[in-house]
Amino acid sequence: MRRIDLLAVDEVPVGTMKMAWVDGTDMVLVVNTDAGFRATQGICSHEYFELDKGFLTGGTLTCALHLSRFDLDDGEPLDPPAELPLAIYPTVVENGRVLIEVPNGPLEVNE
Ligand code: FES
Repeated sequence: MRRIDLLAVDEVPVGTMKMAWVDGTDMVLVVNTDAGFRATQGICSHEYFELDKGFLTGGTLTCALHLSRFDLDDGEPLDPPAELPLAIYPTVVENGRVLIEVPNGPLEVNE
């Protein structure tokens, strides 16, 4: 396993989201929901589109390009046209930082 430091807790107030970079290549979206931090792949599973341009409603994230909604607990798409879930990465908060814990190797991304 590896732990990856994404950003500071202060950078993502409740109800907001912010993109972070991993390994200089992968985008990971950090979302501060009412139920805590969630981290998901930063690019939509439907087509190449940055999810930080979308919008949050409760525990769901809506992609701004074709308006599929995704559940932020399990990444599942709730509306078409997206069919693949978003990869969700387990988060840890430590010393004021948001980290993810993921298997060694490339970050899992569904596309
Ligand atoms: S690119 Fe996100 S729903 Fe199509």
